[in-house]
Amino acid sequence: MRFALLGCGVVGGGVAKIVDEKVPSLELVRILTLPGEIDDPRQTSDIGDIVNDDTVEAVVEAMGGLEPAHTFILQCLNAGKSVVTSNKAVVAAFLPEFAAAAEASGAGLFIEATSGGGVPWIASIVKARRIDALSEVYGILNGTSNYLIHSMETLGTEFDTALAEAQSLGYAERDPSADIDGIDTANKCVISATVAFGSLCRRDIPVHGIRNLTAADIAFFRSSLGRAPRLMARAIQRDGAYAACVEPVLLPVGSVEANVPANYNLATLVGDTVGTLKFYGQGAGSLPTGNAIVQDLLDCAGGERPAYATETTLQWDPALLAGDYVF
Ligand code: HSE
Repeated sequence: MRFALLGCGVVGGGVAKIVDEKVPSLELVRILTLPGEIDDPRQTSDIGDIVNDDTVEAVVEAMGGLEPAHTFILQCLNAGKSVVTSNKAVVAAFLPEFAAAAEASGAGLFIEATSGGGVPWIASIVKARRIDALSEVYGILNGTSNYLIHSMETLGTEFDTALAEAQSLGYAERDPSADIDGIDTANKCVISATVAFGSLCRRDIPVHGIRNLTAADIAFFRSSLGRAPRLMARAIQRDGAYAACVEPVLLPVGSVEANVPANYNLATLVGDTVGTLKFYGQGAGSLPTGNAIVQDLLDCAGGERPAYATETTLQWDPALLAGDYVF
Protein backbone atom coordinates (compact mmCIF):
# COMPACT_ATOMS: atom_id res chain seq x y z
CA MET A 1 0.00 0.00 0.00
CA ARG A 2 1.34 3.41 -1.00
CA PHE A 3 0.99 6.05 1.70
CA ALA A 4 2.00 9.61 2.46
CA LEU A 5 3.20 11.24 5.65
CA LEU A 6 2.08 14.64 6.89
CA GLY A 7 4.83 15.86 9.22
CA CYS A 8 8.21 14.22 9.72
CA GLY A 9 9.14 15.06 13.29
CA VAL A 10 9.54 12.64 16.20
CA VAL A 11 6.52 10.45 15.33
CA GLY A 12 6.68 10.75 11.53
CA GLY A 13 10.38 9.90 11.63
CA GLY A 14 9.59 6.78 13.66
CA VAL A 15 7.00 5.68 11.08
CA ALA A 16 9.44 6.17 8.20
CA LYS A 17 12.15 4.19 10.00
CA ILE A 18 9.90 1.25 10.94
CA VAL A 19 8.39 0.98 7.46
CA ASP A 20 11.80 1.26 5.81
CA GLU A 21 13.42 -1.37 8.01
CA LYS A 22 10.60 -3.82 8.70
CA VAL A 23 7.49 -3.54 6.53
CA PRO A 24 8.10 -4.02 2.80
CA SER A 25 4.34 -4.17 2.05
CA LEU A 26 4.06 -0.46 2.84
CA GLU A 27 5.62 2.19 0.60
CA LEU A 28 6.11 5.77 1.78
CA VAL A 29 5.82 7.84 -1.39
CA ARG A 30 5.29 11.45 -0.22
CA ILE A 31 6.29 13.46 2.85
CA LEU A 32 4.64 16.80 3.57
CA THR A 33 6.86 19.20 5.54
CA LEU A 34 7.74 22.86 5.53
CA PRO A 35 10.15 23.80 2.71
CA GLY A 36 13.72 22.86 3.57
CA GLU A 37 12.77 20.85 6.68
CA ILE A 38 14.07 17.57 5.26
CA ASP A 39 16.30 16.63 2.33
CA ASP A 40 14.29 13.88 0.60
CA PRO A 41 13.05 13.55 -2.98
CA ARG A 42 9.61 12.57 -1.64
CA GLN A 43 9.24 15.88 0.18
CA THR A 44 6.50 18.32 -0.78
CA SER A 45 5.03 21.39 0.87
CA ASP A 46 1.81 21.17 -1.17
CA ILE A 47 -0.99 19.00 0.25
CA GLY A 48 -2.45 18.92 -3.28
CA ASP A 49 0.44 16.68 -4.35
CA ILE A 50 -0.94 14.07 -1.94
CA VAL A 51 -4.70 14.65 -2.17
CA ASN A 52 -4.60 14.54 -5.98
CA ASP A 53 -2.32 11.52 -6.26
CA ASP A 54 -4.64 8.58 -7.01
CA THR A 55 -1.93 6.07 -6.18
CA VAL A 56 -1.81 7.22 -2.53
CA GLU A 57 -4.29 5.08 -0.57
CA ALA A 58 -3.55 6.21 2.96
CA VAL A 59 -2.19 9.27 4.72
CA VAL A 60 -0.47 9.38 8.11
CA GLU A 61 -1.08 12.65 9.91
CA ALA A 62 1.67 13.22 12.47
CA MET A 63 1.77 17.01 12.44
CA GLY A 64 -0.04 17.64 15.72
CA GLY A 65 -2.19 20.67 16.52
CA LEU A 66 -5.62 21.59 15.21
CA GLU A 67 -4.80 23.46 12.00
CA PRO A 68 -3.83 22.73 9.34
CA ALA A 69 -4.15 19.10 10.51
CA HIS A 70 -7.96 19.32 10.64
CA THR A 71 -8.24 20.71 7.11
CA PHE A 72 -5.71 18.28 5.66
CA ILE A 73 -7.37 15.23 7.27
CA LEU A 74 -10.74 16.26 5.86
CA GLN A 75 -9.27 16.85 2.40
CA CYS A 76 -7.71 13.38 2.44
CA LEU A 77 -10.85 11.63 3.73
CA ASN A 78 -13.04 13.46 1.22
CA ALA A 79 -10.69 12.29 -1.52
CA GLY A 80 -11.24 8.68 -0.36
CA LYS A 81 -7.85 8.30 1.28
CA SER A 82 -7.76 6.55 4.63
CA VAL A 83 -6.21 8.55 7.44
CA VAL A 84 -4.07 7.23 10.28
CA THR A 85 -3.38 9.84 12.93
CA SER A 86 -1.50 10.19 16.21
CA ASN A 87 -3.00 13.63 16.76
CA LYS A 88 -5.15 13.39 19.89
CA ALA A 89 -6.00 17.08 19.95
CA VAL A 90 -7.56 17.06 16.48
CA VAL A 91 -9.36 13.74 17.02
CA ALA A 92 -10.80 14.82 20.39
CA ALA A 93 -12.03 18.01 18.73
CA PHE A 94 -13.34 16.72 15.39
CA LEU A 95 -14.02 12.98 15.62
CA PRO A 96 -17.68 13.16 14.45
CA GLU A 97 -16.74 15.29 11.45
CA PHE A 98 -13.90 12.95 10.48
CA ALA A 99 -16.03 9.84 11.01
CA ALA A 100 -18.80 11.24 8.76
CA ALA A 101 -16.31 12.14 6.02
CA ALA A 102 -14.70 8.71 6.21
CA GLU A 103 -18.04 6.94 6.02
CA ALA A 104 -19.20 9.06 3.07
CA SER A 105 -16.11 8.33 0.99
CA GLY A 106 -15.53 4.74 2.13
CA ALA A 107 -12.16 5.68 3.61
CA GLY A 108 -10.93 4.48 6.98
CA LEU A 109 -10.05 6.55 10.04
CA PHE A 110 -7.50 5.01 12.41
CA ILE A 111 -6.68 6.48 15.83
CA GLU A 112 -4.71 3.87 17.78
CA ALA A 113 -1.65 6.13 18.09
CA THR A 114 -3.62 8.98 19.66
CA SER A 115 -3.83 7.29 23.06
CA GLY A 116 -1.25 5.17 24.83
CA GLY A 117 1.61 5.47 22.32
CA GLY A 118 2.81 1.94 21.54
CA VAL A 119 0.28 0.33 23.89
CA PRO A 120 -2.57 -1.29 21.89
CA TRP A 121 -5.10 0.50 24.04
CA ILE A 122 -7.81 1.62 21.61
CA ALA A 123 -7.69 -1.76 19.85
CA SER A 124 -8.11 -3.50 23.20
CA ILE A 125 -11.11 -1.36 24.11
CA VAL A 126 -12.70 -2.15 20.74
CA LYS A 127 -12.04 -5.85 21.21
CA ALA A 128 -13.38 -5.88 24.80
CA ARG A 129 -16.57 -4.13 23.65
CA ARG A 130 -17.38 -6.93 21.23
CA ILE A 131 -18.55 -8.85 24.32
CA ASP A 132 -18.62 -6.53 27.32
CA ALA A 133 -20.23 -3.31 28.43
CA LEU A 134 -17.34 -1.27 29.82
CA SER A 135 -18.03 0.56 33.07
CA GLU A 136 -14.65 2.29 33.47
CA VAL A 137 -11.52 3.32 31.64
CA TYR A 138 -8.76 5.03 33.55
CA GLY A 139 -5.03 5.34 33.83
CA ILE A 140 -1.76 7.14 33.27
CA LEU A 141 -1.92 8.35 29.69
CA ASN A 142 0.73 11.07 29.54
CA GLY A 143 4.35 9.95 29.45
CA THR A 144 5.77 13.41 30.00
CA SER A 145 3.86 13.98 33.25
CA ASN A 146 4.78 10.57 34.50
CA TYR A 147 8.42 11.21 33.59
CA LEU A 148 8.35 14.51 35.49
CA ILE A 149 6.74 13.05 38.59
CA HIS A 150 9.07 10.07 38.49
CA SER A 151 12.18 12.27 38.21
CA MET A 152 11.05 14.52 41.05
CA GLU A 153 10.15 11.50 43.16
CA THR A 154 13.16 9.26 42.67
CA LEU A 155 15.93 11.77 41.97
CA GLY A 156 14.58 14.95 43.57
CA THR A 157 14.99 16.67 40.20
CA GLU A 158 13.31 20.08 40.00
CA PHE A 159 10.29 20.43 37.73
CA ASP A 160 11.91 22.57 35.01
CA THR A 161 14.98 20.33 34.73
CA ALA A 162 12.84 17.20 34.43
CA LEU A 163 10.68 18.89 31.78
CA ALA A 164 13.73 19.81 29.71
CA GLU A 165 14.83 16.16 29.87
CA ALA A 166 11.40 14.93 28.73
CA GLN A 167 11.53 17.37 25.83
CA SER A 168 14.98 16.21 24.76
CA LEU A 169 13.78 12.59 24.80
CA GLY A 170 10.92 13.44 22.43
CA TYR A 171 8.08 12.73 24.89
CA ALA A 172 6.74 16.24 25.40
CA GLU A 173 4.32 18.06 23.10
CA ARG A 174 5.67 20.98 21.07
CA ASP A 175 3.99 23.18 23.66
CA PRO A 176 4.62 21.17 26.85
CA SER A 177 1.90 23.05 28.74
CA ALA A 178 -0.47 20.56 27.06
CA ASP A 179 1.34 17.81 28.98
CA ILE A 180 1.75 19.45 32.38
CA ASP A 181 -1.69 21.10 32.46
CA GLY A 182 -3.45 17.81 31.70
CA ILE A 183 -4.77 18.83 28.27
CA ASP A 184 -3.02 16.00 26.44
CA THR A 185 -4.34 13.50 28.99
CA ALA A 186 -7.82 14.99 28.65
CA ASN A 187 -7.79 14.54 24.87
CA LYS A 188 -6.83 10.89 25.34
CA CYS A 189 -9.47 10.49 28.05
CA VAL A 190 -12.19 11.90 25.77
CA ILE A 191 -11.14 9.58 22.93
CA SER A 192 -10.89 6.53 25.21
CA ALA A 193 -14.27 7.19 26.84
CA THR A 194 -15.95 7.74 23.46
CA VAL A 195 -14.66 4.41 22.15
CA ALA A 196 -15.25 2.55 25.43
CA PHE A 197 -18.79 3.74 26.07
CA GLY A 198 -19.95 3.98 22.44
CA SER A 199 -21.18 7.51 23.14
CA LEU A 200 -19.45 10.76 22.20
CA CYS A 201 -17.72 12.12 25.34
CA ARG A 202 -17.92 15.87 25.87
CA ARG A 203 -14.64 17.73 25.26
CA ASP A 204 -14.83 20.08 28.23
CA ILE A 205 -14.25 17.57 31.00
CA PRO A 206 -12.78 18.84 34.30
CA VAL A 207 -8.97 18.98 34.04
CA HIS A 208 -6.29 19.64 36.65
CA GLY A 209 -2.63 19.23 35.75
CA ILE A 210 0.64 18.95 37.69
CA ARG A 211 2.13 22.40 37.03
CA ASN A 212 2.34 23.25 40.72
CA LEU A 213 3.61 19.94 41.99
CA THR A 214 7.08 20.11 43.58
CA ALA A 215 9.70 17.56 44.61
CA ALA A 216 9.06 18.65 48.23
CA ASP A 217 5.30 17.91 47.90
CA ILE A 218 6.01 14.47 46.53
CA ALA A 219 8.48 13.68 49.32
CA PHE A 220 5.89 14.81 51.89
CA PHE A 221 3.09 12.69 50.40
CA ARG A 222 5.33 9.65 50.50
CA SER A 223 6.82 10.07 53.98
CA SER A 224 3.68 11.32 55.77
CA LEU A 225 0.83 9.64 53.89
CA GLY A 226 2.41 6.64 52.14
CA ARG A 227 0.97 7.99 48.91
CA ALA A 228 2.30 8.97 45.49
CA PRO A 229 0.65 11.48 43.11
CA ARG A 230 -0.03 10.38 39.54
CA LEU A 231 -1.85 12.28 36.80
CA MET A 232 -4.87 10.09 36.08
CA ALA A 233 -7.49 10.10 33.35
CA ARG A 234 -10.77 8.66 34.65
CA ALA A 235 -14.02 7.87 32.86
CA ILE A 236 -16.97 5.94 34.21
CA GLN A 237 -20.46 4.96 33.05
CA ARG A 238 -23.40 3.61 35.04
CA ASP A 239 -27.10 3.27 34.22
CA GLY A 240 -27.18 5.55 31.18
CA ALA A 241 -24.93 8.21 32.73
CA TYR A 242 -21.21 8.96 32.44
CA ALA A 243 -18.49 11.27 33.70
CA ALA A 244 -14.82 11.82 32.99
CA CYS A 245 -12.01 13.93 34.38
CA VAL A 246 -8.25 14.37 34.59
CA GLU A 247 -6.58 15.08 37.92
CA PRO A 248 -3.57 14.20 40.03
CA VAL A 249 -4.58 11.35 42.34
CA LEU A 250 -2.76 10.33 45.53
CA LEU A 251 -2.26 6.58 45.20
CA PRO A 252 -0.91 4.07 47.72
CA VAL A 253 2.85 3.80 47.09
CA GLY A 254 2.44 0.05 46.58
CA SER A 255 -0.23 0.35 43.84
CA VAL A 256 0.52 -0.75 40.32
CA GLU A 257 -0.05 2.79 39.01
CA ALA A 258 2.38 4.33 41.50
CA ASN A 259 5.09 2.00 40.22
CA VAL A 260 4.84 2.79 36.52
CA PRO A 261 8.26 4.17 35.55
CA ALA A 262 9.19 7.33 33.70
CA ASN A 263 7.54 7.73 30.31
CA TYR A 264 5.42 4.59 30.53
CA ASN A 265 1.61 4.49 30.43
CA LEU A 266 -0.73 2.16 32.28
CA ALA A 267 -4.32 2.10 31.09
CA THR A 268 -7.12 0.05 32.61
CA LEU A 269 -10.53 -1.04 31.36
CA VAL A 270 -13.27 -2.69 33.38
CA GLY A 271 -15.74 -4.96 31.61
CA ASP A 272 -18.70 -6.92 32.93
CA THR A 273 -17.34 -10.36 32.04
CA VAL A 274 -13.62 -9.81 31.56
CA GLY A 275 -13.24 -7.79 34.77
CA THR A 276 -10.26 -5.47 35.15
CA LEU A 277 -7.58 -5.46 32.45
CA LYS A 278 -4.42 -3.34 32.57
CA PHE A 279 -2.31 -2.36 29.57
CA TYR A 280 1.26 -1.22 30.16
CA GLY A 281 3.95 0.07 27.83
CA GLN A 282 5.70 3.07 26.32
CA GLY A 283 3.10 5.79 25.89
CA ALA A 284 5.31 8.26 24.06
CA GLY A 285 8.34 8.42 21.83
CA SER A 286 9.24 8.01 18.21
CA LEU A 287 9.33 4.24 17.75
CA PRO A 288 6.53 3.13 20.13
CA THR A 289 4.12 5.69 18.64
CA GLY A 290 5.43 4.95 15.14
CA ASN A 291 4.71 1.29 15.81
CA ALA A 292 1.06 2.04 16.65
CA ILE A 293 0.72 3.99 13.40
CA VAL A 294 2.24 1.20 11.33
CA GLN A 295 -0.14 -1.29 12.99
CA ASP A 296 -3.01 0.94 11.87
CA LEU A 297 -1.57 1.14 8.34
CA LEU A 298 -1.47 -2.66 8.20
CA ASP A 299 -5.10 -2.87 9.40
CA CYS A 300 -6.02 -0.29 6.77
CA ALA A 301 -4.26 -2.29 4.04
CA GLY A 302 -6.19 -5.34 5.25
CA GLY A 303 -9.47 -3.54 4.56
CA GLU A 304 -10.55 -2.57 8.08
CA ARG A 305 -12.85 0.44 8.34
CA PRO A 306 -13.44 1.28 12.04
CA ALA A 307 -16.75 2.84 13.13
CA TYR A 308 -17.02 5.52 15.85
CA ALA A 309 -19.75 6.90 18.07
CA THR A 310 -20.64 10.32 16.73
CA GLU A 311 -23.47 11.25 19.13
CA THR A 312 -23.78 11.51 22.89
CA THR A 313 -26.31 8.98 24.16
CA LEU A 314 -25.32 9.03 27.85
CA GLN A 315 -26.21 11.73 30.38
CA TRP A 316 -23.35 13.69 32.01
CA ASP A 317 -23.30 13.02 35.77
CA PRO A 318 -20.13 14.18 37.58
CA ALA A 319 -21.40 12.63 40.82
CA LEU A 320 -20.18 9.32 39.38
CA LEU A 321 -16.62 10.49 40.04
CA ALA A 322 -17.18 11.21 43.72
CA GLY A 323 -16.03 9.03 46.58
CA ASP A 324 -13.11 6.71 47.14
CA TYR A 325 -11.68 4.59 44.43
CA VAL A 326 -9.18 1.82 44.55
CA PHE A 327 -6.30 1.36 42.13
N1 HSE B 1 3.24 14.25 24.97
C1 HSE B 1 2.67 12.95 24.96
C2 HSE B 1 3.06 12.22 26.21
C3 HSE B 1 3.12 12.19 23.74
O1 HSE B 1 3.97 12.69 26.90
O2 HSE B 1 2.47 11.20 26.53
C4 HSE B 1 2.37 10.92 23.49
O3 HSE B 1 1.01 11.16 23.23
